Amino acid sequence: MKLLLLLTSALMAMATTPSLASLSLSLSQTESLRAIKDLTSTFAQLSQSRDYPAMAALFSPSGILHFGNTSITGTQKITSFLKGNINSTLDTLIFATPLINLAADGRSGRGRYNSWRFQGDGKGATKLQGGIYENEYHLMNTTKDDAKGEWKVEVMRYYPLYEGNYEDGWRNYGGRDFGAVPPFHYTPDEAGLPVLPGGEIVETREEGMEELTSRIEVLNDEDEVKNLQHAYGYYLDRRMWTDVEDLLGDGAGAGGGWGGVFTVNNVGSWSGKGGVRKALERWMGPEGLKQGVLNEHLIFNTIVSVRGSGGSGEIIADSRGIEVALIGDRATSRAEWRIGFFQNSFVKRNGTWQFFNITIAPLVVANYSTGWGKGGTFPKSTITPQLLAYSRMHTITPSPTFPSNTTTNLTELERRIRRSAAYDGAENISNAYGFYIDFIDGAGCFNMSAIHHTLGHKESPFTGFYQTQKRVLDACTASYGNSSIQSRSSISFHWRPQPVILISSDGRSASLRARLLQPATARGNNSAQIRGGMYHDQMVLDASGIWRLWSVTIDEFYWNSGNWGTGWNGVTPRAANVSNPGPRDLTKQFPPDLILTGMGERERGFQGGTGRFTAWPDIQKMWFMYRNPVSGREPGGQYNGYWPGCVPCQHRPEWRMEKFGWEEPPTGPVMW
Ligand SMILES: *[C@@H]1O[C@H](CO)[C@@H](O)[C@H](O)[C@H]1NC(C)=O
Ligand SMILES: *[C@@H]1O[C@H](CO)[C@@H](O)[C@H](O)[C@H]1NC(C)=O
Ligand SMILES: *[C@@H]1O[C@H](CO)[C@@H](O)[C@H](O)[C@H]1NC(C)=O
Ligand SMILES: *[C@@H]1O[C@H](CO)[C@@H](O)[C@H](O)[C@H]1NC(C)=O
Ligand SMILES: *[C@@H]1O[C@H](CO)[C@@H](O)[C@H](O)[C@H]1NC(C)=O
Ligand SMILES: *[C@@H]1O[C@H](CO)[C@@H](O)[C@H](O)[C@H]1NC(C)=O
Ligand SMILES: *[C@@H]1O[C@H](CO)[C@@H](O)[C@H](O)[C@H]1NC(C)=O
Ligand SMILES: *[C@@H]1O[C@H](CO)[C@@H](O)[C@H](O)[C@H]1NC(C)=O
Ligand SMILES: *[C@@H]1O[C@H](CO)[C@@H](O)[C@H](O)[C@H]1NC(C)=O
Ligand SMILES: *[C@@H]1O[C@H](CO)[C@@H](O)[C@H](O)[C@H]1NC(C)=O
Ligand SMILES: *[C@@H]1O[C@H](CO)[C@@H](O)[C@H](O)[C@H]1NC(C)=O
Ligand SMILES: *[C@@H]1O[C@H](CO)[C@@H](O)[C@H](O)[C@H]1NC(C)=O
Repeated sequence: MKLLLLLTSALMAMATTPSLASLSLSLSQTESLRAIKDLTSTFAQLSQSRDYPAMAALFSPSGILHFGNTSITGTQKITSFLKGNINSTLDTLIFATPLINLAADGRSGRGRYNSWRFQGDGKGATKLQGGIYENEYHLMNTTKDDAKGEWKVEVMRYYPLYEGNYEDGWRNYGGRDFGAVPPFHYTPDEAGLPVLPGGEIVETREEGMEELTSRIEVLNDEDEVKNLQHAYGYYLDRRMWTDVEDLLGDGAGAGGGWGGVFTVNNVGSWSGKGGVRKALERWMGPEGLKQGVLNEHLIFNTIVSVRGSGGSGEIIADSRGIEVALIGDRATSRAEWRIGFFQNSFVKRNGTWQFFNITIAPLVVANYSTGWGKGGTFPKSTITPQLLAYSRMHTITPSPTFPSNTTTNLTELERRIRRSAAYDGAENISNAYGFYIDFIDGAGCFNMSAIHHTLGHKESPFTGFYQTQKRVLDACTASYGNSSIQSRSSISFHWRPQPVILISSDGRSASLRARLLQPATARGNNSAQIRGGMYHDQMVLDASGIWRLWSVTIDEFYWNSGNWGTGWNGVTPRAANVSNPGPRDLTKQFPPDLILTGMGERERGFQGGTGRFTAWPDIQKMWFMYRNPVSGREPGGQYNGYWPGCVPCQHRPEWRMEKFGWEEPPTGPVMW
């Protein structure tokens, strides 16, 4: 009470100081968004244990599942529909690239997702599915205390877009052309709006100051830990073992002291100095890549849960998620799928999060040529999956060390909430871009450009950068024309999973690096393809409080399958004397403001850039916009480079967000 009085007088002193009630509202809004994402990720994770009743239990009592034109209600019917017409021994359902809307009253939300589902019955039958979900979520009144309410799925609406078996790969659903775009639940403006407007403060629950501070710290901690988890995945892809060791902090690479355990189920456990590197080498090969080596570890549906304290009194967090690994070595003709889950723990030391324990549980390891239909080549997993709490509120175990950075300064608390809201806002707008590009046409160009800031800029692949929203639109129209496409025979999807998101200290700008994962489909059999690239973006909060893209760079492609039958090992290397196919004609039709060849070293090897075209199975240099999040090390090795911040800004410094009043986000470890 004394504290509140103190706060009230501080409040009167500063007209702009936020009220406790408004802080409490924005906190519960961000918590709700995350509860919706975690609920959906839990649904996905449960598929790997084939726990269909538990998945069905995540629907509300009135919940409904629409699969194409079929509608299913009731727990029993949903359970048996989820199980499907294949007796799976392997099942992995993925929900990627969330774009979540929270309604103004905070009691319902909508989410758009990309999805994959891979199944096999161990006797030869397989099923691959891909499509888009548009879901609705409701906050149940389980208790009188709103903040303890539980989010449930009210409507799960699946638009099947491609499907097939392992032998033939996926192809367009029903073998048909694509008609209308699966409807969007949001407009371009809404894609960047933290919460739909019109909300009023209905919540009257009174949090103590300490509770408020610790709930905010949980959100901030989740951002840091999720970044660590996702950054780790990218280091695996490039076999950057030194960087993985750095993530373990406390001198795992340089002097010992690391007390964690690195476990690969059915392979071994390692700990201590040198142990981690042994684990990495044993399970994934030596440090660094060479021609024809693929080590892609796609991470999906990561949930992070912060525990108040571990046995040591330190603050601990856990992560769990789905891993789909694409492994290959052309030289030895090895190509494999490795599908499973990870469950890791982290510790916060001196204000910096670092990895502690790592557990990889492969559920299937399958030779590419035979696939997982017969169950693969690996023993059955013996690790018990630990589901993390998806109903996030009040899950913290009180401890003397938590919250670790208390304050009674409401402006400071508002800043901290804003930073976490920015994390979700940046992810939203990133995924909005991918969803618009999938079905791009003359009409789609409007929506795609509208999510850019009026003064932002974007790369058109193999061409160059266009600055201002207007020129981004015109470049798009110059490529795709002015009219809508009514029917498409093929689509290359633009997933942007596994983001690493760096937020400025004021929470008004962000840098985001995410994978470009491109599943492609067409009408015929053996037309499925899959490709990988990288996005390097920046986002800003505009004057009306809407998130917009400030800078978009696309590095493509790092790897691809030739066709489904031969996979990523079936791509023939280019002859040494083959020249760069050069930029698109767009360079002449609608000249960019910065052409790729003007980017020098940064675009070396990419199509339209400088130098020899470096295409898979050759290894193209990979760029990072951040340093190691624990040690601050710059990415190293022959094939990795460091290029901080807005990608074209080293050549166009006048495009930097700082010139327009936004703070440049950090590029390495910081203490907030
Ligand atoms: C749903 O029904 C409509 C009309 O019969 C049909 O055009 C469409 O292809 C169906 N959709 C799916 C996913 O089966
Ligand atoms: C699944 O297993 C059940 C029980 O063993 C069997 O009756 C059914 O035919 C199987 N279904 C398929 C599609 O294999
Ligand atoms: C993401 O966008 C939707 C609007 O489409 C919004 O409701 C949701 O709250 C946004 N999330 C954040 C944190 O910006
Ligand atoms: C849940 O509670 C809110 C008020 O707290 C009320 O407006 C709403 O009607 C209730 N919903 C249900 C389904 O009981
Ligand atoms: C563009 O956005 C509007 C508003 O959300 C939507 O109705 C329309 O379908 C979208 N068009 C395309 C082609 O994406
Ligand atoms: C934390 O920082 C203090 C003071 O800078 C230092 O003495 C201590 O060794 C650090 N602890 C760890 C675990 O890094
Ligand atoms: C605690 O928060 C303040 C900002 O209020 C920041 O300057 C300081 O570095 C933080 N300390 C830790 C250990 O995170
Ligand atoms: C790490 O794993 C060990 C061994 O399984 C366990 O005893 C310890 O509690 C774990 N530590 C954390 C921080 O989860
Ligand atoms: C994978 O399958 C191919 C073709 O059947 C075979 O040549 C190769 O030896 C297999 N590789 C492994 C590691 O089993
Ligand atoms: C409160 O926090 C804000 C934002 O971090 C800071 O600018 C301000 O100086 C702080 N006020 C006091 C009285 O410490
Ligand atoms: C699109 O329409 C505008 C005005 O309607 C026109 O100026 C432009 O040339 C058209 N562009 C294309 C590529 O058709
Ligand atoms: C394509 O694959 C489907 C499903 O495996 C099969 O039924 C069909 O006969 C195939 N079509 C052709 C043209 O090979």
